[in-house]
Amino acid sequence: MECGAFKQPARRSTSLLTLGLTLLLHAANVSATGGSPSMGKEQFLAALLEQMSLPEKVGQLRMKHSPGTPPSQYALDTVAKGAVGALFTEPGFTREQLRAYQDAAVQRGRLGIPVFFAGDVVHGHRTVFPIGLGQASSWDLQAIGSAARIAAIEASADGLDMTFAPMVDLSRDPRWGRMSEGFGEDPYLVSRIAERVTQQLQGATLGAADSIMACVKHFAAYGAVEGGRDYNTTNVSTHQLFQDYLPPYQAALEAGAGAVMTALTTLNGVPATANRWLLRDILRQQWRYRGLVISDHSAVQELVAHGTAAGGEDAAQAALVAGTQMSMNDRYFEQALAQLIEQGAVPVSLLDEAVHQVLATKYDLGLFHDPYRRLGHAQHGAQPSHDPKPLHRAQAREVARRSLVLLKNQNALLPLVKRGTVAVIGPLADNPVDILGSWHASGQPGQAISLYQGLKTAVGDDAKLLYALGANISDKRDDFLLLADKTVNFDPRPPQALLAEAVAIAQQADVIVVALGEARGMSHEGASKTDLNLPTQQRELLQALKRTGKPLVLVLMNGRPLTIVEESQWADAVLETWFSGTEGGNAIADVLFGDYNPSGKLPVTFPRSVGQIPLYYAQLNTGRPFDPQQPSAYRSHYFDTDNTPLYPFGYGLSYTHFSLSPLTLSTHRLRPGHAMQVSVTLKNEGQRTGETTVQLYLRDRVASVSRPLKELKGFQKVLLAPGESRQIVFDIDTSMLAFYNQHLQRVTEPGTFDVMIGLDSQDLQKASFELDGTPP
Ligand code: NOJ
Repeated sequence: MECGAFKQPARRSTSLLTLGLTLLLHAANVSATGGSPSMGKEQFLAALLEQMSLPEKVGQLRMKHSPGTPPSQYALDTVAKGAVGALFTEPGFTREQLRAYQDAAVQRGRLGIPVFFAGDVVHGHRTVFPIGLGQASSWDLQAIGSAARIAAIEASADGLDMTFAPMVDLSRDPRWGRMSEGFGEDPYLVSRIAERVTQQLQGATLGAADSIMACVKHFAAYGAVEGGRDYNTTNVSTHQLFQDYLPPYQAALEAGAGAVMTALTTLNGVPATANRWLLRDILRQQWRYRGLVISDHSAVQELVAHGTAAGGEDAAQAALVAGTQMSMNDRYFEQALAQLIEQGAVPVSLLDEAVHQVLATKYDLGLFHDPYRRLGHAQHGAQPSHDPKPLHRAQAREVARRSLVLLKNQNALLPLVKRGTVAVIGPLADNPVDILGSWHASGQPGQAISLYQGLKTAVGDDAKLLYALGANISDKRDDFLLLADKTVNFDPRPPQALLAEAVAIAQQADVIVVALGEARGMSHEGASKTDLNLPTQQRELLQALKRTGKPLVLVLMNGRPLTIVEESQWADAVLETWFSGTEGGNAIADVLFGDYNPSGKLPVTFPRSVGQIPLYYAQLNTGRPFDPQQPSAYRSHYFDTDNTPLYPFGYGLSYTHFSLSPLTLSTHRLRPGHAMQVSVTLKNEGQRTGETTVQLYLRDRVASVSRPLKELKGFQKVLLAPGESRQIVFDIDTSMLAFYNQHLQRVTEPGTFDVMIGLDSQDLQKASFELDGTPP
């Protein structure tokens, strides 16, 4: 066993102590995978804690930012002093840079406690996969899991031990730019993805060299920021919190996520980072979570701005007491904690509890056995970040093409044939930067395939491609976005010149493929919007292209639902591609030319207008539901817009057509504690092999609290050859009928339930059954 992590203490000659610790290390049986009998681990951690000074303990609770540049001597000395427990890294860092920190911690530190390295590996590391919303659109847990596994393999090979992911904030507000990172509006779908991503990031065992720890974020309900304005207040009823917002975090934790990140926001008045109810009552007591709680970036400091702490001491105390154990890039833990302990304002047991947790995390990551397990040793070298060798292109293309959602295909314009002349137009048409999306980690635009490149490779010499920019991505050069993101290209020519050039190109073509949407920075942290239309220049471009009379395919690249009512009328075909990653261009070409039959389904509702937000499928009936067949003024509706979405949750077309038979129930009376089956026959009625997702929804007709009109409870993605049918069976057990009552008890109440199955959340086959009595 290597136990180089421990050095003889510098200021004390404690050969007996060192000998004792070495024996303890042996007793702890620290294995190559980091696993060990729990007694052994606990003895080891207790012995280590015993030796730590107060400043060293405080140091363990600090995660500091490490810029991608070589570490400064000051930064290295700080680590060597034991004043930092973990570092979070910028994209593009190298293993050598990280190794220098680990050398400082292990070789120069008094106790040689390793640091761990964390980063934002949100949808891929070197190989960039589609953004969260895109991955969720695949409704394919295996594909999503493969993306997470590859991200872990690549990130760990670059030295990372932890990722700030999965981001499982349920969001029903597309004004919020961070909706792009999450997996949509539905608690069930987001929860299933949360657990799969967690399992695949962490691998078979956390201590494995190719595993990274998941840090699920942002606890809790960050996706409910008022008005969709980032960092804004969240007010969510406790009932809705339990019913909708908490389940995804809980699912990730039950899948074993080793860490949780607190949200930057207040929840019902109390900042998450100092929210004892969230961090102790729910997380520790109700959920029995035993992992690490990390604050979001500077969240401890921000307690002062939130107005719940008077200053640094107050903030540090409130965060630690509430259950925040490690602070990310804040100065108050460093400045105030030691003093608070010395003054007796904070009991040392609280500090020890948090330090123990940080050390346990390092232990579980296998770092006490080998602090270099993910960094490699100097002689192992590392691939430079621009080296294409480690990329997982085939898997990225597969996940990306499964994430594309066909929203419209009038007169079966798609798939296109690989002949004639195709005009490829738009600010996102030949753009390898934005296709990577926000949080692109170590992904390199130079390695990404733009739509134009993908189409070019697909057609070879069989068809001619023409290209024009057509419009800038943003209307104004001094747009906030352009100031914030230096990678945005801006053509200085007047908009009319760009437009005229594009129209002239389009007129020479047989078909137009126009790629419009957002720059990656528009759907990102801090990037909230009140207007979800395409920017004016892009809209005018689409309108002008429509006027050419040529067949028009709109390829959307964006990180949130956009209000595209008119655009969806102007275009003959619309393909939602989100930000599809390194292989995006090839994946989109696969779909446009029919080499892959699209199978994606929306994980989020597309509203018609911003005024409808929040608009989600799992709504309550209200006392006065609006019936379009019998319109009435005093019914719940808008005067100026339909209640219906532009595209509903779960929606997405295929190049083939699927039919569903009426439902068959194995029983119409379900007994508590038993299960029943509901089945339906799915048939591919078309000429192409294709995949679709069969979705199961339930409704509790009468309950002690008003229940949603439908809630997703299961789904199956099914591949069928032309003419093939398959019986699809879902089990329904009483646990699927449970909900939180007014007293926040999870209950199942007897009565009538509707069961609905369909290929989207609106077009559903329906049957009913009774639940007899209350489950034991
Ligand atoms: C702040 C973001 O809210 C969080 O999601 C991210 O992980 C950290 N910054 C670190 O980059």
